Amino acid sequence: MSINVGDYVLLIYDRKRRWLLKAEEGKIHHTHKGMVNLDDIIGKPYGTMVLSNLNHKFYAVKPTPMDLLLKMQRATQIIYPKDIGLILLNTGVVPGSRVVEAGTGSGALTSILANYVKPSGRVYSYENREEFLKIARKNLEKTGVLDYVELKNKDILEGIEEKQVDAVILDMATPWLAVKLAYDALIAGGHFASYSPTIEQVQKTVKELEKQNFIDLTTLECIVRYINVEEGKTRPETRMIGHTGYMTFALKVL
Ligand SMILES: C[S@@+](CC[C@H](N)C(=O)[O-])C[C@H]1O[C@@H](n2cnc3c(N)ncnc32)[C@H](O)[C@@H]1O
Repeated sequence: MSINVGDYVLLIYDRKRRWLLKAEEGKIHHTHKGMVNLDDIIGKPYGTMVLSNLNHKFYAVKPTPMDLLLKMQRATQIIYPKDIGLILLNTGVVPGSRVVEAGTGSGALTSILANYVKPSGRVYSYENREEFLKIARKNLEKTGVLDYVELKNKDILEGIEEKQVDAVILDMATPWLAVKLAYDALIAGGHFASYSPTIEQVQKTVKELEKQNFIDLTTLECIVRYINVEEGKTRPETRMIGHTGYMTFALKVL
């Protein structure tokens, strides 16, 4: 697959130095390792090596949905890939799934959900703040998945319009207030997930889930350590992300 004008390209120098660029004719990308002329990659296959004018090697690869997510404009705190992976697996989202989500925020989770439910599924994403929705729309356009998302400038607490959905996923300040609405919107056997930075939010949400016919309540967090692999000094990196959020999952039964 070759790189055409207008395509997104991830230009990699090393693990920490990488840029998401649009392939444009005549465009020069400046780095501290020299300038890269994007004309040198247009028409070449993804994976192509290109030399800067200082003779350093860069690689032009196809960005994954995760690369696109990490380079999105952020209007709000986003859910990170390590947590999104678990949300996808625990909610059973697959191509064709119909998923309700709130709030949209910057659209990071939305973009990955859309990538999984496409082409026949849909993400119905509620966000009560229009300014965030505008940024999310741009991010979803940029990641090429807007067609699979219905963005709704609505407070989810005023009601979930969709019925018989496969999953309801909440990343909002007061998820416990939406638990009953989620129950009513889900199919039997449908999945509930909420993502909250504090234990107090988790406790309130779990209490509400227990009042409804939800089973298999599970709360967890995901801690990831990167490992520096080097002959004779392989060990975890010194710095790490300590905490992002807790995830609570539950299954609707009748
Ligand atoms: C942390 S952000 C969501 C980030 C998003 N998951 C992402 O990955 O980009 C939380 C969002 O929930 C929205 N929100 C809070 N309460 C809401 C409600 N009742 N209905 C709809 N959106 C709500 C906020 O405006 C905010 O944009």
